[in-house]
Amino acid sequence: MSPPAFETILARAGLGRTATSTAKPGLQAPEPLSEPLALSSVYRFRDLEQVDEVWEGREGGFVYRRLGHPNQTELERVMAGLEEAEKALACSSGMAALLAALVSHLESGDVVLAQAGLYGGTRTLLAEGLTRLGIEAVSVPRPTAGAFAAALDGLASRGRRARAVIVETVANPSLEVADLPSLAALARERGVLLVVDNTFATPLGCRPLRWGPALVVESLTKFLNGHSDVIGGVVAGPAEAVERARKTAATMGLGISPLDAWLTLRGLRTLHLRLGRQSENAARVAAWLEGRPGVAAVLYPGLPSHPSAALARAVLSSFGAMVSFELEGGEREVAAFLGRLRLIPFSPSLGETATTITYPYRTSHRSLSDEERTAARAGPGLLRLSVGTEAAEDILEDLEHALEACST
Ligand SMILES: Cc1ncc(COP(=O)(O)O)c(C=O)c1O
Repeated sequence: MSPPAFETILARAGLGRTATSTAKPGLQAPEPLSEPLALSSVYRFRDLEQVDEVWEGREGGFVYRRLGHPNQTELERVMAGLEEAEKALACSSGMAALLAALVSHLESGDVVLAQAGLYGGTRTLLAEGLTRLGIEAVSVPRPTAGAFAAALDGLASRGRRARAVIVETVANPSLEVADLPSLAALARERGVLLVVDNTFATPLGCRPLRWGPALVVESLTKFLNGHSDVIGGVVAGPAEAVERARKTAATMGLGISPLDAWLTLRGLRTLHLRLGRQSENAARVAAWLEGRPGVAAVLYPGLPSHPSAALARAVLSSFGAMVSFELEGGEREVAAFLGRLRLIPFSPSLGETATTITYPYRTSHRSLSDEERTAARAGPGLLRLSVGTEAAEDILEDLEHALEACST
């Protein structure tokens, strides 16, 4: 049988067969179609021999939930398929996934090169969390191979070497697209680990492993679950690198809970349907916003005016559902705009089936300096829409009503 197509993997997420059968020996009882929620924190062993077999992975099964559980295993199987990865590791959040990916491969004294315009939480993790472990993060202005090569050369001229580079496929909130084909080639040539945060693109929009080995990180909290009721993350990539991250995650207690894994699997079954429609709506919203009175700029990779437009066509198979736009003016206009929205909630996340809007300057990027926020394009006039599955006309009507606040 040929390997299942992307949509087939999605439609069957959570319908795997990792559950233990309760049939009498020699008999096969009917199994539940939907994977049961396995809440037990620990498992019971027949004898010492069995504990050794399971612990060492020679016999299937689980020992203790922090080390793995059936819902996590099923989610990892599905995510590895979607990312075209050898292995995947599911974690308790997108940040936990990033932490597991980085900490398992870096040690005190190492340098990580990071795109300047990353999600604010990632910048904070690099600047505060990893610095405390003795890992230095150096900012690179653009997610291009040229900018990263220059940064690697700059470090080398000072006798230092970067062990990892980190970029976002589609950056939060500038929606700048990373030149993944060239970055993967550069990482291979220079022997550095490439970490790609694919949260905004999702595997529906981009499968970074097609260009070479990397650790792909996704926040499951967003489009992959899609219903604003899960916090989770995943690391996917070559088996050896993922298994290293797994050891770190198990030791540090970074694993996903059964309920979050189960809900994510349920959400995944409709990812292609949800995000397909959301992307169509987003393209309409972006085109509609462009040139409206009160709107200074619209950032959407599918618009010809976007700085990454050409690269987006090469790297992305779908332009996604995120649209950022800058209002003329600043916080005052933003407050007035948000105050007039009737349908779209101001809610600092993304990826929900309903349209939501956020203000990165005062939410996701609030702990950054003004200089860092400018570099990430998260300035005082920028709003970030996560476009949902509603009728596009209703979304546009709400935006039009809110924009009246800016033209009066
Ligand atoms: C691009 C990106 N990466 C990672 C994260 C972190 O994900 P989580 O909130 O699941 O930890 C976020 C959260 O907004 C994000 O936008």
